[in-house]
Amino acid sequence: MTEHKTLNTVIHAAFRRDLIRFDKALESFDGTTQARADQLHYAWRNFAYQLRHHHEDEETIFWPILRELGASDSLSEDLEGEHEKMLAALEGADASMAAFQSSPINDRAGAARTAVTRLSDVLLDHLAHEE
Ligand SMILES: [Fe+2]
Repeated sequence: MTEHKTLNTVIHAAFRRDLIRFDKALESFDGTTQARADQLHYAWRNFAYQLRHHHEDEETIFWPILRELGASDSLSEDLEGEHEKMLAALEGADASMAAFQSSPINDRAGAARTAVTRLSDVLLDHLAHEE
């Protein structure tokens, strides 16, 4: 079990947990219920909001403190680049989840799962780097 020394690692753990839950929920979607697609999209919108909010706070609160403490410019540039990649993947996942909710068929659940996996790949590397 991760030893949480900061609130940031607690939040990161929640993102990791939720990405696994979305993956499993989309994998097991049976293609028959609009209500389940609505639930998953509702949960996704909350996840996406929290992810954006968290990273905006890092950029406006945490990173300036890192710079004051002497973090290198290259570290800042690397983290900024990772956020840009994360936001691009998040926008793709947002679009795929919205398409899935508007027409909850198995193909769209699969496409949404692929987009969430793409976001996971980018985000998990970034979270590990930050930690
Ligand atoms: Fe971040």
